[in-house]
Amino acid sequence: MSQQLEQVKALIQLREKARMGGGQKRIDSQHQKGKFTARERIDMLLDEGSFEEFDMFVTHRCTNFGMEKERFLGDGVVTGYGTIEGRLVYVFAQDFTVFGGSLSESFAMKICKIMDQAMKMGAPVIGVNDSGGARIQEGVNALAGYAEIFQRNILASGVIPQISAIFGPCAGGAVYSPALTDFNIMTRGTSYMFLTGPKVVKTVTGEDVTQEQLGGASVHATKSGVAHFAVDTEEDGIKVIRDLMSYLPQNNLEEAPVVPTNDPIDRLDDSLNEIIPDSPNKPYDMYEVIGSIVDDNKFLEVHKDYATNIIVGFARFNGISVGIVANQPKVLAGVLDNNASRKAARFVRFCDAFNIPLVTLVDVPGFLPGTQQEYGGIILHGAKLLFAYGEATVPKVTVTLRKSYGGAYCVMSSKHLRGDINYAWPTAEIAVMGPSGAIEVLYGKEVAASENPVAFAAEKEKEYRDAFANPFNAARYGYIDDVIEPRNTRFRIIRSLQQLATKKVTNPPKKHDNLPL
Ligand code: HXC
Repeated sequence: MSQQLEQVKALIQLREKARMGGGQKRIDSQHQKGKFTARERIDMLLDEGSFEEFDMFVTHRCTNFGMEKERFLGDGVVTGYGTIEGRLVYVFAQDFTVFGGSLSESFAMKICKIMDQAMKMGAPVIGVNDSGGARIQEGVNALAGYAEIFQRNILASGVIPQISAIFGPCAGGAVYSPALTDFNIMTRGTSYMFLTGPKVVKTVTGEDVTQEQLGGASVHATKSGVAHFAVDTEEDGIKVIRDLMSYLPQNNLEEAPVVPTNDPIDRLDDSLNEIIPDSPNKPYDMYEVIGSIVDDNKFLEVHKDYATNIIVGFARFNGISVGIVANQPKVLAGVLDNNASRKAARFVRFCDAFNIPLVTLVDVPGFLPGTQQEYGGIILHGAKLLFAYGEATVPKVTVTLRKSYGGAYCVMSSKHLRGDINYAWPTAEIAVMGPSGAIEVLYGKEVAASENPVAFAAEKEKEYRDAFANPFNAARYGYIDDVIEPRNTRFRIIRSLQQLATKKVTNPPKKHDNLPL
């Protein structure tokens, strides 16, 4: 065998060794936990055969605690690039079989390298997290590594989409990298995220709590809002990522791909003409409206189980990717509260950063009153959503289906916040507040003093309703561009989006805004 052939053979063997990560025993243990390895995850995520790996031969440089005797090729993270539906993406997957996926200086530099490359190319970064956190033996070098990644997450924010899968532990300061990215996907039962684990919690607060209760997928998908998607299996998580990618552009200077559809532009849905119940206090399901108007009844919901009084997610109209924001009358009558405001604000800002038009479906009785909300900062959180809509320069199409009261009218993509097209159904009610509240404020004393308070209040409420509980008052001032037949909603939205395709609006130059945090 020639010397060169021997060298090639040695290379192949070295590659084989690197691919084994921390060795077969640890790979088996990973599988026993119901988890895939880093390489298996990358294979599932990317188009077949598209993965090109970087830095397979990187090892750590630590000499503390005898670490110089224990080195693994790749040092616990697999990095590189490949494609999803033919589109370039950069990926890293932490390899739990090597030092528990813990982060060393070299490990961090590998991640930083692909993030830098992704920024140069204008391509998304997808990271799979499965790690014991900072590599304890490396001390401050591991912390420095995290901070280097955070800095890149921050600079990449709003420039390229960043998606984090959490398929195992993600604890301590390590949680801040996913928190800085745009979307977090967690697997139920096998992933958890928390700043301090159950033992520290017990020591500091005396609270007994399991890992799952403290930071499992269900907790973050329903209570904290840290997770945008909770899935049962890693395969489901990978599917979500690939689906999500189809709605997103490569970067903030590009548009999302248009996906051809056979769903006719002018498909009417007569059921929408009868979906609003006669009683204003009776709910209907906003999902039915969304499903009826978007292409092929396809809707990728974000934050499905968090603040369910508002619905956000991605859909398409005649192939155009849009972000949908919709009040859900079935939950708390669709009221805006702290969590709903934060959820929607973050989504609106994401869409605006990445040139994804916003379609807003309004049925909102107002902001939720009370001490709990006020103490929780509803003034600030509500202002976030207001700010997000007001600064957004993407095409904004709004349809008011029923209620639109008070501050919530202003906030929900109104004409006054540069809404481009504002439609209303004939069932829309646009006013400062609902009829009963208004009559209480305006005629409370008269109602109490009248011979028949119920009849008097009803008469006044009717007067109020006739004057304000319709869309025509707002339409008279041009705040509503047209009152449309509900069954035409899909067609009218598509026409609007087509018209707005060349929209160019820029905000005044500034270093950055001062969003109420
Ligand atoms: C070095 C680590 C490690 C770490 C795990 N390992 N975590 N090595 N640094 N942080 C190693 C283990 O020694 C073991 O090596 C292998 O990884 C697998 O770990 P196990 O404990 O056997 O696995 P398991 O039982 O599944 O438990 C996983 C775990 C646990 C829950 C993650 O390992 C754990 O609690 N690790 C420490 C977590 C932690 O406190 N990290 C620091 C957080 S603070 P062998 O050789 O046996 O395979 C932090 C600060 C970041 O990260 C700040 C950023 C700003």
